[in-house]
Amino acid sequence: MGKKSDTEVKMQEKNIMDYDTVALDDERSELVIIDQTKLPGNIEIIRLKSAEEIWNAIYLLQVRGAPAIGVAAGFGIYLLAKQIKTEDFDTFLAEFQKKKDYLNSARPTAVNLSWALNRMEQVVQKHRERPVKEIVGLLKAEAVEIQNEDIRVCKAIGEYGLSLVKPGDGILTHCNAGQLATSKYGTATAPIYLGQERGYHFRVFADETRPLLQGARLTAFELQSSGVDVTLICDNMSASVMQKGWINAVFVGCDRVAANGDTANKIGTSVVAAVAKHYGVPVYVCAPTSTIDMDTQTGADIHIEERPAEEVTEMWYKERMAPQGVKVYNPAFDVTDHELIAGIVTEYGIARAPYKESLKTIFEKKRRQ
Ligand code: MRU
Repeated sequence: MGKKSDTEVKMQEKNIMDYDTVALDDERSELVIIDQTKLPGNIEIIRLKSAEEIWNAIYLLQVRGAPAIGVAAGFGIYLLAKQIKTEDFDTFLAEFQKKKDYLNSARPTAVNLSWALNRMEQVVQKHRERPVKEIVGLLKAEAVEIQNEDIRVCKAIGEYGLSLVKPGDGILTHCNAGQLATSKYGTATAPIYLGQERGYHFRVFADETRPLLQGARLTAFELQSSGVDVTLICDNMSASVMQKGWINAVFVGCDRVAANGDTANKIGTSVVAAVAKHYGVPVYVCAPTSTIDMDTQTGADIHIEERPAEEVTEMWYKERMAPQGVKVYNPAFDVTDHELIAGIVTEYGIARAPYKESLKTIFEKKRRQ
């Protein structure tokens, strides 16, 4: 037998799926994450303490994916609150809000970042009569609950998603809405993992997802590590595999869903959705209710993050692959029109068009439970 590659050896020792995407080390007051920029070659765990370290980790996509960003923000703001040295509530609140606004500025599109931070601030505001020390304890409990909820929510999305496909189906996914983007199961990958446990034998196609290669580096890695039948394709190959009849459904995640069902997700998602419509393949957006923003009316109101030109011109290449000085446009997300979406799979069921009504019904169901 030939010599095993470093990656093979590492996978035998401990699988990527055995690591927590985001964890809290309360004793050492550290946020512990897998550095996703190093995957799949190296599984590196990094520990973050300061506001700047946490902000950078989110901005640089060391921790990424809407739900994982929310969980990291919850633990992050708790750790920063722990560092505030005062017993006076107003001073504590002012300092807390400063740190919260700073973390919130790391990335604009995924609503989970502000959602988690606002949820943490509500804990502070609600318990303003209690000693600061107790409030900090409550913040920890809330951050842990955000993470536990994420696991339950992804599993529920997986169950609803699984009802939309049948054993042996071909599934296409874009970017990484997998375990690495959440605490467990992922959103778009949750039906795939649950199906895997139940012998569905899906054939999954993962778009490589230019320019940051989340599909190649993360989705292909985690699905392969879990024993899922996964085939990596370039972003411009989705029409080809759909034309051949290999794809029965597209499952993608999202960073923000507007009240009318328009959905912001990783750049290229709307191309996949338009192509899928042409070939009659249903597109399902897997969306925890934490990613649905009923205060944003349509996709046109979603702030789309633009990232540095180098991600397109030189990152991942041995040498620069574009002429010096060329103009580059690098939006990190695009908006998929609600008309291209066959269903929005939430933890409270599947919303269908017309989304203005069905998403409201989903939130009513959430309020009742
Ligand atoms: O820029 P990224 O890697 O954070 O973008 C991630 C995505 O677009 C995911 O599809 C989305 O956040 C959903 S993750 C469950």
